[in-house]
Amino acid sequence: MTIQSMALIGTGVMGMGIAQIAAQAGVEVRLFDAKAGAAEAGLAKLKVMLEKLQAKGKFTEQVLNETLARFLVLDSIEQIAGVDMVVEAIIENLEIKQSLFKQIEAIVAPSTILATNTSSLSVTAIASNLEHQGRMAGFHFFNPVPLMKIVEVIAGLATDEQVVEDLLELAQRMGHFGVRTKDTPGFIVNHAGRAYGTEALKALGEGVASISDIDRILREGAGFRMGPLELFDLTALDVSHPVMESIFNQFYQEDRYRPHPLTRQMLAGKKVGRKVGEGFYKYIDGKKTNEAPAQVAPEVTEFNAVWIAADREQDASLLRDYIRAQSLVLDSAEQPAADSLIILATYGEDSTTASLRLGVDAARVVSIDLLTDFAKHRTLMPSIVTAKNYIDQAHAIFAKDGQGVTVIAESVGFVAQRVLAMVVNLACDIAQQQIATASDIDKAVKLGLGYPHGPISWGDVLGAQRILLILERIYANTGDQRYRPSPWLKRRAQLNLSLLHSAAV
Ligand SMILES: NC(=O)c1ccc[n+]([C@@H]2O[C@H](COP(=O)([O-])OP(=O)(O)OC[C@H]3O[C@@H](n4cnc5c(N)ncnc54)[C@H](O)[C@@H]3O)[C@@H](O)[C@H]2O)c1
Repeated sequence: MTIQSMALIGTGVMGMGIAQIAAQAGVEVRLFDAKAGAAEAGLAKLKVMLEKLQAKGKFTEQVLNETLARFLVLDSIEQIAGVDMVVEAIIENLEIKQSLFKQIEAIVAPSTILATNTSSLSVTAIASNLEHQGRMAGFHFFNPVPLMKIVEVIAGLATDEQVVEDLLELAQRMGHFGVRTKDTPGFIVNHAGRAYGTEALKALGEGVASISDIDRILREGAGFRMGPLELFDLTALDVSHPVMESIFNQFYQEDRYRPHPLTRQMLAGKKVGRKVGEGFYKYIDGKKTNEAPAQVAPEVTEFNAVWIAADREQDASLLRDYIRAQSLVLDSAEQPAADSLIILATYGEDSTTASLRLGVDAARVVSIDLLTDFAKHRTLMPSIVTAKNYIDQAHAIFAKDGQGVTVIAESVGFVAQRVLAMVVNLACDIAQQQIATASDIDKAVKLGLGYPHGPISWGDVLGAQRILLILERIYANTGDQRYRPSPWLKRRAQLNLSLLHSAAV
């Protein structure tokens, strides 16, 4: 069936966004909201917005008039009869959604497709009281709908394949990437998104770095558009903390999704983010007022020779070239001389563990994270016994060419390594759980979360074996189940395949 008419129930933020793109794609849209006047008000607001876009030359006046003519505001829900499809975007409450769909089923034909925009409830559960459960699917958009060009098409246990196909076709007509998704907690995007924030919170809780430094490392070093903590402030903890708890609990306390007590406490203390003027940062008129500036390199005039060891020869070579380019003395002996500064380019370890593994003096060790782009930002990690003089030398050396340097406290896997490894591992495990295909997960998360790469192809860019090494070492060093590598990642890394590789069987 080609869907040509739609009833939209719940004309709030999401409902009107869906209504807009449907009407712009040529679909007739009937609007209904339980609150008197809400549908009219929603349409009036949309009209003003579309008129502005038309004035800017986004489309012709004729297109504007045709689009507006496709809307009809309903006085009663009975007037939805005869539409090809009903989309529900009301309050996020299982019982209320179930009873609304029961009511809808009594009005529309058995062939009418029923869709829910739920972001956290089970589509199967919402459909469970219906007579014809096969016609019901999830159609999960992201805010703001016209700009976020992705929609998850969620098949519940009873959903007919044809309904999924029809929704995928409609998504395409609306200019959105429709991604076929299994009915699992958080679907794809909200599920994959659990890695970034929870791992950053864990690092913050361990005192690895300040709020500003964690955000800076992940923005400047790893390439995320926003740091995880400033992102929490934007989304607001009254929205994101319950999502973290819900996904964790729906997966029966799976450690990979474990939330952090800090956000629960902040929520209890009403420090939920930018909208109330305080979250991780303080805000005035939406602007941060207390972001700590980037660390300033200390003045150092005398440098010891630099001895280098790395897990990967290419890292050692990059560091040697850099040290020579800065006209510093390289200690090339097998073992470091008695006073050499020891620089370790290591993965998935802290500096103490790396020093012991290599049999070097932990008091002169500073590790560097080379998973992040050396040309953009550098994270340095001394051990808990590294002498201040050596920390200062390392900081000054790696700031010599003008790049930003952040010195952090000891952490098993720095900041960016643990966060990126978690992002890749979680996405790989979503593929392993067959929630969607690897390439769909990759595309959906890139569109839905605005990451610089899809989380699976990001693993290919960084190197699957390197990600595996980070996870295996963190897992071995911490014993925390959270870091156990997904079999999806492990097999592909072992066989030196792309993480997007799908098996024939
Ligand atoms: N806001 C988001 O970022 C976002 C993203 C994806 C999905 N969602 C989901 O979309 C749905 C709607 O969210 P929203 O942010 O647009 O909410 P909203 O509060 O902006 O709008 C909900 C609308 O539904 C109406 N409503 C409530 N109960 C109703 C009922 N029984 N019958 C008819 N109308 C009813 C309300 O009057 C309101 O106009 C929720 O299920 C939510 O989880 C929201």
